[in-house]
Amino acid sequence: MTAQLIDGKAIAQQVREQVAAEVARRTAAGKSRPTLATVLVGDRVDSATYVRAKRKACEELGMGSVHHHLPADVSQEELEKLIKSLNRSKKVNGILVQLPLPAHLDEERILSLISIEKDVDGFSPLNIGRLAQKGREPLFVPCTPFGCIYLLEQSGVKIEGANAVVLGRSNIVGMPAALLLIGKNATVTVCHSRTRDLPGVVRQADILIAAIGKAEFVRGEWIKPGAAVIDVGINSKPDETKKSGYRLVGDVNFDEAKEVAGWITPVPGGVGPMTIAMLMKNTLRAAEIQQ
Ligand code: GUN
Repeated sequence: MTAQLIDGKAIAQQVREQVAAEVARRTAAGKSRPTLATVLVGDRVDSATYVRAKRKACEELGMGSVHHHLPADVSQEELEKLIKSLNRSKKVNGILVQLPLPAHLDEERILSLISIEKDVDGFSPLNIGRLAQKGREPLFVPCTPFGCIYLLEQSGVKIEGANAVVLGRSNIVGMPAALLLIGKNATVTVCHSRTRDLPGVVRQADILIAAIGKAEFVRGEWIKPGAAVIDVGINSKPDETKKSGYRLVGDVNFDEAKEVAGWITPVPGGVGPMTIAMLMKNTLRAAEIQQ
């Protein structure tokens, strides 16, 4: 292995400890406990697991959480009413609507209703719009891309002037990751299902962020020697040696890429733990902004 392993679990733990210390300082000074409202619609098992982990993190860091679980057939009007009441609530600093929402709901409208000061996911059009404009600062940056950039910076990877390639253009990861990299003066290429000669494009990347949701899709021979590889994918792959019958793998073929890259994140234990750490950081920031 030539690559330096980027230990997301350890870096996330450091972020969590910093946030917990600041929360303790705030409460000791008589200020309110930063509090996150989580909204889960329906019964998707993956979404329920993510929301549970987010609430557990709040508890572990000394923050408050309030949870709203709505049925899968909730009306747009009911959900909008809830968001408006959370916007008004003095007890709530951050609002997180777990995505995806059931198809009958208008996600764009729901996200646009969240008060910009409480938009700890950074998905409101105002925050994303500011991220996309020169000289403007969003109040919050989406947690997973924020975590990717944090990992690069903590590992000493130079972003300015680098050729960065982002695989995937989702609203949650790919597109905001590309905007963040542009803001840090990288030269950015965003690839997607219709990109021609993907291996050829990836070979130019000093920094590669893979977020396409395809198990071990990126091969080692696509990686530029010395590149920093950030693997956002979490895919399950059949594995008879495991009791569960599967194991988690990223979007990058780790065993191949680690022999070529300069830095690489493992799956699990890379980007995954950073998403919640950055959400906690954003929720603390929300409390500070609203103070
Ligand atoms: N679904 C997948 N990732 C996320 C995320 O970071 N935030 C929310 N709200 N939903 C998600």
